[in-house]
Amino acid sequence: MNRYFGFCLSIFFLWACNPSASEKTAVNPADETKYHEQYRPQFHFSPPQQWMNDPNGLVYFDGEYHLFYQHYPDSNVWGPMHWGHAISTDLVHWENLPIALYPDSAGYIFSGSAVVDHQNTSGFGEGNQPPLIAMYTIHDPIREQAGHNDWESQGIAYSNDRGRTWTKYSGNPVIPNPGNERDFRDPKVRWDEGSNQWIVVLAVQDHVAFWGSPDLKSWQHLSDWGTGIGAHGGVWECPDLFPLKYPGSDVTKWVLIVNINPGGPNGGSGSQYFIGEFDGMEFKMDDNLANQVSDGQGIWLDYGKDDYAGVTWADAPLPPERRLWIGWMSNWEYATVVPTTAWRSACTLPRELTLFQTDLGYRLASHPVQALQQLRQDSRLIDAAVIDGSLDLGKIPSTFELELELTLPDEGNFSVGLLLENENMESYRIGYSSENNRFYSDRTQAGDHRFSDLFAEGLHTAPRLSTNRQLKIHAYFDVASVELFADDGTTVMTEIYFPTSPFNHLKLQAEGIPVNLNSATIYTLHSIW
Ligand code: FRU
Repeated sequence: MNRYFGFCLSIFFLWACNPSASEKTAVNPADETKYHEQYRPQFHFSPPQQWMNDPNGLVYFDGEYHLFYQHYPDSNVWGPMHWGHAISTDLVHWENLPIALYPDSAGYIFSGSAVVDHQNTSGFGEGNQPPLIAMYTIHDPIREQAGHNDWESQGIAYSNDRGRTWTKYSGNPVIPNPGNERDFRDPKVRWDEGSNQWIVVLAVQDHVAFWGSPDLKSWQHLSDWGTGIGAHGGVWECPDLFPLKYPGSDVTKWVLIVNINPGGPNGGSGSQYFIGEFDGMEFKMDDNLANQVSDGQGIWLDYGKDDYAGVTWADAPLPPERRLWIGWMSNWEYATVVPTTAWRSACTLPRELTLFQTDLGYRLASHPVQALQQLRQDSRLIDAAVIDGSLDLGKIPSTFELELELTLPDEGNFSVGLLLENENMESYRIGYSSENNRFYSDRTQAGDHRFSDLFAEGLHTAPRLSTNRQLKIHAYFDVASVELFADDGTTVMTEIYFPTSPFNHLKLQAEGIPVNLNSATIYTLHSIW
């Protein structure tokens, strides 16, 4: 939590918490001209300017997907946290709205969630419209600096105008710090039909805590879970809890997502998850997962280095087999020093999570939302071929989507993958190696990495779970990022990179043994800005 300490000077805090100071730099929604700087993603959400980290307050209401986010409008590094705000009707195009929540004398507005209070249990509703309620962590930097251990508590705010303006509840905090929990944050709240109450899951250093409430204002501690289970290389942050139906069955499992920093699968930040049952009081992990998450092992939603703090949308109009999710496309190891200046960092693509089964138990697959297909501008089909060494696929645009199917050799050691290149002799590789049955991402030669020793320190890898000889690659490249959804999203890797000129050439490469390419399609994608 070192990044917090630099911002704790109270004089600075008081200045920054003055809404008029922040409002001066607040987003002007009409100003959309600035989305074409070097490295600026063209079909991912990124803030119009300055710093962003976690997605917050994800809720669907009245035809709009709300995306709030951790935001510091006065600098391109982390600082006193606000909730920035954008909305979308299709999860592809985003409209920037003014900042939703400002820090105040109680503290910064840390991560949290939002819900539609359909039954107006909170009493904040007006007329017939249910209010939107945001629940967030109040992080008090003055108490932190003064050496206390209780600087984080939970507050709520409500909106009766479709999320455009928010009023903080006068009775905050609704969940005070128990007294000595240094990390006590990131409330993710949901209505639990089984127990007929609101349930919030909080990250409390090395475990999660479940609390229950009839009205979002008075809360009661229900249970704790997670100490000694799963990955614990860092502090637990940004949890989520939701039911998910197994397709084609009556089985509904509960998914508990726990983000962790550091301690991720390839270093730094990462998103792990657990699958089991929740009875309105306690989470119980499936028995067959127990030995897989002992000894500090995690099961990861995304094995790339740049997918963190992911959580899901409340009330998204989806069947119970699918859950809508988005993450922050960066890593605390280097997020504040990546070579962008006008803005820093972006969200991942919105994804739908589904359950699938393996010999080891249930797992989550991730699928980019279908609505992204509207961005396809033109497509290029590549004929079936044998990849023997290198197969040149020619020029590529800086924003494209690739679908590709290979037939893997029966035996022997080989690796097969994509190679992106530019004129400056920089290259990025992503693919699969049979030797360890893992996917790899190699950004060691992919451009600027002087800003951090941890950025290009080696290969990043992910296990292949599918045993199918047909290997399907579905990947999105957006100027300075890649998202790989391999084997129908059963292995996912998200990585960023900073080529000094855009990658504009693509090759397929097979080493060891020739590999059959069955088909490939490259789609040029439109910019959303
Ligand atoms: C995760 C996190 C959260 C916290 C927020 C502060 O990236 O550390 O735990 O609420 O960022 O910006």
